[in-house]
Amino acid sequence: MEENNKLFIPIILGTAREGRESEKVAKYIERKARENFKLKTEIIDVKELDFTGTEGKGLAEKNPKFKTTIEKADGLIIVTPEYNHGYPGSLKITLDMLFEEYKHKCVGMVGVSRGGFGGARVIENILPVIKDLSLVTIRPDLNFSNVEGLFDEAGKIKDESYNGKVDVFLKELIWMTKTLKWGRENIS
Ligand SMILES: Cc1cc2nc3c(=O)[nH]c(=O)nc-3n(C[C@H](O)[C@H](O)[C@H](O)COP(=O)(O)O)c2cc1C
Repeated sequence: MEENNKLFIPIILGTAREGRESEKVAKYIERKARENFKLKTEIIDVKELDFTGTEGKGLAEKNPKFKTTIEKADGLIIVTPEYNHGYPGSLKITLDMLFEEYKHKCVGMVGVSRGGFGGARVIENILPVIKDLSLVTIRPDLNFSNVEGLFDEAGKIKDESYNGKVDVFLKELIWMTKTLKWGRENIS
């Protein structure tokens, strides 16, 4: 557990929609990662990024903090809502800003939906993008279904069965993050 505090695993909050429920999910996971696993983490909010002008690597120059954060990251968590079975354009534009910086890093996927599938369909749809960026996924995803009303006003989750699922997810994410970090540092 002690060595977990050397791992930096930021969370991309993948929507800028006004009133977004995904923000509550991202904050809940951020809290669990810090409290239960002593991870270093922070939320990367797509709402705070500059998307004007071009797309792709040109945008990285306009968002130097994002580039530095991903460079420093040992692994990543992506929280994405499901919009018509797909992912928000803002998440895709964000991911497309960088390429080499993701290579051989672990990512854990978190889907959020108003419906009953917990973003399972958006996760299936984003996996080819993740693969092309040379990010490495873990098997367990987190699926937050029927998200409206899932959190109280203080941001506490009402359905406590999620707590165990988040622990399983983070344990696997940490294992894979450490394994890939070792590989990046020791295998050319
Ligand atoms: C453009 C759009 C499309 C949506 N499509 C779906 C969908 O395909 N399946 C679903 O369960 N919910 C869908 N929703 C509802 C979202 O899942 C819901 O807003 C949920 O709270 C997560 O997104 P949020 O972080 O933007 O709140 C859609 C919402 C929007 C704005």
